[in-house]
Amino acid sequence: MITDDLREKLLTHDQAHLLQELERLNDADRAQLLNDLARIDLAELRALHGKREHKDALPERHRIEPLPRPAAEEPHREFKEQIGNDAIERSEIAYLVVAGGQGTRLGFDHPKGMFPIGPLSKRSLFQIHAEKILALRRRCGARLPLLVMTSPATDAETRLYFRRKNFFRLPPQDVWFFCQGTMPAVDLTTGRLLLEGPGRLCLSPNGHGGTITGLLGSGLLDRLTDQGVHTIYYFQVDNPLVNLADFLFIGRHVEARAEVSSKVLPKTSPLEKVGNFLMVDGRCSMIEYSDLPEGWANETDDAGNLRFWAGNPAIHLLDVEFLRKIAGEAERLPWHLARKIVPYVNETGQVIKPDAENALKFERFIFDILPQAERWTIHATDRAAEFAPVKNKEGVDSPQTARAMMCADAARLLGQLGVEVPAGIKVEISPLFTLDNNRTIPPITKHTYLREPKD
Ligand code: UD1
Repeated sequence: MITDDLREKLLTHDQAHLLQELERLNDADRAQLLNDLARIDLAELRALHGKREHKDALPERHRIEPLPRPAAEEPHREFKEQIGNDAIERSEIAYLVVAGGQGTRLGFDHPKGMFPIGPLSKRSLFQIHAEKILALRRRCGARLPLLVMTSPATDAETRLYFRRKNFFRLPPQDVWFFCQGTMPAVDLTTGRLLLEGPGRLCLSPNGHGGTITGLLGSGLLDRLTDQGVHTIYYFQVDNPLVNLADFLFIGRHVEARAEVSSKVLPKTSPLEKVGNFLMVDGRCSMIEYSDLPEGWANETDDAGNLRFWAGNPAIHLLDVEFLRKIAGEAERLPWHLARKIVPYVNETGQVIKPDAENALKFERFIFDILPQAERWTIHATDRAAEFAPVKNKEGVDSPQTARAMMCADAARLLGQLGVEVPAGIKVEISPLFTLDNNRTIPPITKHTYLREPKD
């Protein structure tokens, strides 16, 4: 039913076109649209649309300092690795892969995690991640749940894919799916909610900042606590080289009782398309590449090195209790605006496929929680060993570059074992055998490999 209250709200917020739509619809479609509208804060959307001409508000330059560079040598390295190893063996770690993005830039019509990236085996991204965890479970005899964050666009197909693939031999009860929320897209000029069909709003994933509300809403945060998990190892589905067995990274985080820990990559150029870690008012923060002013990006220190040197490979450790503490505030994380091309139906029911940006979409980013952490650590990592993002169909950060990096990494490992791989020969090693990319772990013995996870 269209209540007076709703009518008033739609008129106040310049959404009168939805009143006409509601009157036209059959009962089921109307109920669907009313249901969606009930969950939308129209005043907030209007305010966000009002900011469309502004870039994200940046802190003043004098409040910003570069991220300190970590020491080249890690003090008490073995001790910290042991702490990390122990945390894994005690099953205090869970892995979380964010896989809700639609992979539009890659031009792949399925969830990105299904993309066949293995240079020879054609293993999918999901398979590679799942097998790394399987290897680690076997090596450490630990449970290590894998949490997969999907979105309405990827959820059903992702779940079906894992089922069809027999969960890549992970126990199904240790693979937990949860679906992130959505935000409506609005018309760029008018701010009106766009429709993709009768009674159906154009909804898109609410950004990986939706991880926190998604974890809370699905009850998985409680389930993690009940199972004795203290730390979430967060990573993106699009990086096949991510090292999930980094005992030092975990050990430093646990030892420092950090609330968040992040890997950082020295940037290859001032304008590289990665987020920038830096300090704002003494707190670790992130400014996305698209928001960092070029002048700041080009700043160098006395030695000629980039001041804003620290790129974001999107690999974090998140303390479960910290997430619980801030979950109530997650609704206050900022929304970031993006101009997109979004097909829609107009008032006469005609499908319009624009050829220029016509819509605004809104996303929250996980790294906006960084400044809330009282204790945090950063961990510099090696690009060649750990960052091969699959973003674009061709060119930089494409399947071609990622496969080349995977082959080079495998060749390097074989080289360390005394096997020279001739140039031009492609090699790939199963994640079930490599386990960790930074080679800090002694080779797996038959004994450790076959240990079964404790329940
Ligand atoms: C992202 C980071 C950037 C980082 C780079 C490293 C943002 C805004 N920026 O850039 O700082 O240097 O990765 O590769 O994230 N996802 C969801 N739900 C969503 C949106 C995204 O699960 O609603 C997932 C995607 O599936 C993907 C990841 O988040 O795994 C990153 O999303 P993407 O849009 O590819 O981010 P980038 O702009 O490439």
